[in-house]
Amino acid sequence: MTQRIKPEELRSYRWYGVKDMRSFGHRSRTAQMGYHKSDYAGKPVIAIINTWSDINPCHTHFKQRVEEVKRGVWQAGGFPVEMPAISLSEPFQKPTTMLYRNLLAMETEELLRSYPADGCVLMGGCDKTTPALIMGAVSMNIPSIFVPAGPMLRGDFRGNFLGSGSDTWKYWAELRAGNITEADWQDIEDGIARSPGHCMTMGTASTMTSAAEVLGLTLPGAASIPAPDSRHAQMATLTGKRIVDMVWEDLKPLDFLCTDSFDNAIRAVLALGGSTNSLVHLIAMAKRAGIVLSIDRFDELARSTPVLANLRPSGKYLMEDFYYAGGLRGLLSNIKDLLNLNLNTVNGKTLGENLESAKVYNTDVIRDRGTALLQKDGLAVLRGNLAPDGAIIKPAAMEARLLKHTGPAVVFKDYNDLNARIDLEELDITEDSVIVLQSAGPQGAPGMPEWGQLPIPQKLLKQGVRDMVRISDARMSGTSYGACVLHVTPESHVGGPLALVKDGDLISLDVAARSINLLISDGELEKRRASWSPSVPKFNRGYGALYLKHIQQADKGCDFDFLEPEGIQEIQKIQDDPEIH
Ligand code: FES
Repeated sequence: MTQRIKPEELRSYRWYGVKDMRSFGHRSRTAQMGYHKSDYAGKPVIAIINTWSDINPCHTHFKQRVEEVKRGVWQAGGFPVEMPAISLSEPFQKPTTMLYRNLLAMETEELLRSYPADGCVLMGGCDKTTPALIMGAVSMNIPSIFVPAGPMLRGDFRGNFLGSGSDTWKYWAELRAGNITEADWQDIEDGIARSPGHCMTMGTASTMTSAAEVLGLTLPGAASIPAPDSRHAQMATLTGKRIVDMVWEDLKPLDFLCTDSFDNAIRAVLALGGSTNSLVHLIAMAKRAGIVLSIDRFDELARSTPVLANLRPSGKYLMEDFYYAGGLRGLLSNIKDLLNLNLNTVNGKTLGENLESAKVYNTDVIRDRGTALLQKDGLAVLRGNLAPDGAIIKPAAMEARLLKHTGPAVVFKDYNDLNARIDLEELDITEDSVIVLQSAGPQGAPGMPEWGQLPIPQKLLKQGVRDMVRISDARMSGTSYGACVLHVTPESHVGGPLALVKDGDLISLDVAARSINLLISDGELEKRRASWSPSVPKFNRGYGALYLKHIQQADKGCDFDFLEPEGIQEIQKIQDDPEIH
C-alpha cells in the first residue's frame, strides 16, 4: 500500500481531530456509544451503507455480512460505521422500485457527505440498489467498494431447477393455459426462492452486480459468489480490509471510471445476455461520472459481442452453475480481446491482472466464441417513427420468427385497461397482432415499471402461442423474455408517438434493420398529434411530485435533471466551509 494521505487529511479529522466545541460533541457522543478514543482517533471512518430490511428477501444475509465487513475494517485499522439506507425491495415496493432508485442514490450521496465518512462500503444487489448506491457514491467520489448481495441458490420444483422470474412467467402461462394444477403451482411457490440472495437468473440484479465488478468497483470475482456460500462471507471481510487501504491510498471511483470502463461493462452485459434495464442504469451511472453514454453505444457494441453465458432467461442455467463454471472472471477471460484490460480497479490492480488466473470449468455454461448462444445482438436499439429517441429489444430472449414482423395493433391505454381486457374472449386479437401498452413510462406509470413483458391473452395461450410482438414505454424485468419492444422514447405520457397508436394500425418491427415503425402517413400522425392532450400528473405532493418534475426520459438514464455532476464542487465548498460546519 502506498500511503498518500496523512491522518489529519482525512475528512473525519474535521469531526474528530480538531480542537473546538463541535468536535468535543462528536467525541463525547462517540464515547456515549461505547467507543474509546483509541478505537477511532486518526483512523479512517468507513461508512457501510447497508440496504438490509425485514422486507427485502434478497438482502436477509446482510445483517450477518455487515458484521463481516466490520471485522475486516477493524482488522485493517479503520473505524466502521453502519448507516442503513432505503432498501428498494423489488418484489414488494409499489408501483416500482424504479420510482425510488434516485431517492436511494440521493440518500447515499447525502449520508456520505453529511457524516464523517472517509471511505464507504456499499451493500446492495436487489435490482435498483446496485445502480443507486453507485450513483450516489460516484457523485460523492470518496473511496468506495461495492459488496454485491450474491445470487440465491437454484430454485427447486420436484428435482427440476427453477429460475427467479423466468420460471414464474413460464409456469404462470402454463397455469393459465390449463397445463399445470394449482397444487403444482403451490410447490413452485414454495421452492422457487429457497435461500438469501438476489434473483439467480441473469436478471437485472446479476447484470448490474456483474457490471459493477467490470467497472472495477468490487473485489475481483465478487459478483458471482452465491449469497449463502462461505466464500461470500470471506469476500465481505476482505472488502472491509481493502477499503481502509483505499482511503490511505486515496483511490476514488473517478480515478478509474472512464469511457472505456463503461464500454467494458456494456461488453460484459452483452456477453452475459444481460438485462435491458442495464441501459437506463449504466447511462445514469456514467453521467454521474461525467461520461456521456448514449443508447446507440449499446447497439454498436452488440454488433460485435457474442452472447456466451448460457443463463436464463436467454439460456439454460442459473447463477449457481455460472459460479461453479468459472463465474464472471471466466466469462471475461473469453472476451479479453474486446476489453480494455489496462484499467485500474478497487484492489489497485488492473482488470487484466485480475483476470490472469481466470478459467472456464464448464464450457456448456460459459461458452467459447465457437459455441456462442448468439454471435452478436444480445440487445438491439430500435428507432423509427414510433420511437424517435429509441427503444430496446432483447433478440437473445425472443422467438426468432418475430425478428421481422408486421401486424395490427391492439392498444391498451394503461395497465388497468390491459388487466381488465387482455383475457376477454371477445378481444379481437390473433398471434399476429402487436400488443401495445401506453402510459407505462417514467412519467406515465409513473416510475417506468417492469410491465413490458405484456401477457399473452389466455385464449392464445390455450392455442399454444407463447410469444408475440409487444410494445410499451415500460421496462421489463431482466428475468423476462419475449419479443418485447421496451423503453419507447419519448414515452406516451409526454406525447410520444406511442400515445397516437390506434387499434388496427399496422406496426412493423425489423430487428436486423433496427427499426420500429407505425405504418400510417405523416399527415395522419400530425392530425392525431394535434388532437392529443396531456393527462393530469399523478402526484401533486411529496417525493412523487419531485420525481415527476425532474425525471428524465429512458435514453437519458431516468436520472433527475438536478443531479447532473455540474455543481458538485459548489456543494463540497459549502460542506467544507468551517462557518457552516
Ligand atoms: Fe431482489 Fe430479484 S427480487 S433481485
